[in-house]
Amino acid sequence: MAKDSKAGPNHVAIIMDGNGRWAQMRGRPRLFGHHAGAKRVRDIVESCPGFDVKYLTIFAFSTENWKRTQTEVAGLMKLFRRYIQREARDLLARGVRVRFIGDRVRLDDKLVNMMDELELLTRDNDKVHLTIALNYGGRDEVARATKRLAYDVEQGRLAPKDIDDETLPKYLDTCFLPDPDLVIRTSGEARISNFLLWQSAYAEYDFIDTLWPDFTPAVFEKVLDGFKARDRRFGAVKV
Ligand code: FPP
Repeated sequence: MAKDSKAGPNHVAIIMDGNGRWAQMRGRPRLFGHHAGAKRVRDIVESCPGFDVKYLTIFAFSTENWKRTQTEVAGLMKLFRRYIQREARDLLARGVRVRFIGDRVRLDDKLVNMMDELELLTRDNDKVHLTIALNYGGRDEVARATKRLAYDVEQGRLAPKDIDDETLPKYLDTCFLPDPDLVIRTSGEARISNFLLWQSAYAEYDFIDTLWPDFTPAVFEKVLDGFKARDRRFGAVKV
């Protein structure tokens, strides 16, 4: 259940955009920006308990990102492996439970094994729930969920008449998560780019100009303060 907006968001989802431009402005290759972005991931995760953010979901790699150059894709995959390797112990010690969403089929086995291990290692943690979207696309997620749902119908485990808006989310990758209260996109682009399409039906959006590698906990705090000032009605009329 979402908290009262005055209390701040319980679940924040972030589209981390602007790494490439941040690097370009410094005359450096795009991967330099992604490495700087990974450091920010660490800072923002660390800041969550202080801001009373229980769930953080970050968009690390989309189903569309495979269209980037082979060098960039390979560099990002290596960065994800390095992040898991370097951060696992610290995440465990800080009480962070890590889970991944997205289609793992196209990811290489070594990375998938590391993802599985990190999920297992942190499964008893409950201070912060970090969800990393890797090879994730909202439409792809709904299509995969529908496939599983149709299979359950075929097997007689689910009757079509019982399918409603509480049934489908149980088949989504995010079945273990509450809906996001706030979706932030950095770098000045006002698009949702296939991120958490179903789950964000009632989320507040904040599109901010800051590039992801400049998104410090201080910037995060300002965005969270802005959320608290908003009036969320979930389709109802305020009395
Ligand atoms: C978008 O910026 C960013 C990505 C596609 C990758 C996000 C990855 C990270 C922040 C790296 C670390 C993540 C983890 C989980 C360790 P862009 O490259 O599209 O930037 P641009 O729009 O300026 O080109």
